Amino acid sequence: MRLAARVTLTCALTALIGCGGSGDGPTSPTSPTTPNTPTTDNTPLRAYAAAHSRFIGAAVDRGFRYAGSDGVNFRALMAREFNMLVPENDMKHSYLQPSQGVYRFVSADSLVAFAEANGMRIRGHTLIWHSQLAGWMANGTWTQDQARALLADHVGTVVTHFKGHVAEWDVVNEAFNDDGTRRASIWQNTIGRDYIERAFIAAHADDPSVGLFYNDYNIEGINAKSDSVYAMIQDFKQRGVPITGVGFQSHFIVGQIPSTLSANIQRFAALGLEVHLTELDIRMPPPATAASLEQQAQDYRTVVNACIAVTACNTIVLWGVSDRESWVPSTFSGQGAALLFDESYAAKPAYAAVQSALK
Ligand code: G3I
Repeated sequence: MRLAARVTLTCALTALIGCGGSGDGPTSPTSPTTPNTPTTDNTPLRAYAAAHSRFIGAAVDRGFRYAGSDGVNFRALMAREFNMLVPENDMKHSYLQPSQGVYRFVSADSLVAFAEANGMRIRGHTLIWHSQLAGWMANGTWTQDQARALLADHVGTVVTHFKGHVAEWDVVNEAFNDDGTRRASIWQNTIGRDYIERAFIAAHADDPSVGLFYNDYNIEGINAKSDSVYAMIQDFKQRGVPITGVGFQSHFIVGQIPSTLSANIQRFAALGLEVHLTELDIRMPPPATAASLEQQAQDYRTVVNACIAVTACNTIVLWGVSDRESWVPSTFSGQGAALLFDESYAAKPAYAAVQSALK
């Protein structure tokens, strides 16, 4: 069991009375952020998850920096409910290497410090992606050798910086198209298709103990895209390319959970992989109604049950703490209300569903 898991398990046993509070306000069940959940069970999600050696996490970005009591309440809720933290943006290329060769870790380090003060495992997101690249990289003209060096330098520098703090990385994010072909990107176009394994090999070389994941969306069911990812990972395993697992982002729509989710989790697990649900949210057209909230709760229960039925599916990350911070409304107009807590941090029926499934 990796160190972080041991720390988290210890915290879980004391989660009911607060664990390593960050000093950012009360974390006891009577805190103002105690969810007015439809259930009478006041046990935090993290306590039930850790009791089964699992991680329930959340992506953290703007809410972490709210000022005043807003920030205190956000951080207290985060510390109370989750034993994993994923920086939503702060560990992306444009944030960490804003100028070529100039690395900036301050904001990501503040999230790491908060997570460690609260016994949370840290998932790094993401080393190599086609999006949110610093301008100098995205707009540059690079030879294959230059691009190979830039990839190795970024991965090596970042993995080395966070060694001993980040337990696992989304090494490469979203490298495939929905039809199963490789996505065109500066990495694919200048280096070629082996940029993916180059990233995994570089990350492993700099931290042999860190978890290495391939992460993508629309691969939660069995389809052309997940088949291509499966084939790539099968090839990696056969050739000894270091890889720990696969991340199913799991950005779902209420009422539309893939029917082949369980079978897909099982087939990737059968490759000897960990399978993590890395960016879970289940969006709906607001305003939420009792019916849509109930359907959402059922969908969350279905997804969590499909994961926890497979030992290798030991991590579920919500892509945000509350609907207030969610990326969904700014991306999908007319959609939102995708998470477990509403805009005022009240627990929704989905919270109770996830809590009872984790229990
Ligand atoms: O920080 C700036 C702020 O200074 C500026 O005023 C503001 C308006 O321009 O933009 C802010 O940056 C935004 C950033 O989120 C932080 O809030 C970017 O514009 C915005 O594009 C960025 O969106 C992020 C998105 O990835 C970018 O593709 C979302 O927060 C984030 O949730 C989302 O996460 C991705 C995963 O990394 C990969 N999987 C899909 C998922 C959803 O797109």
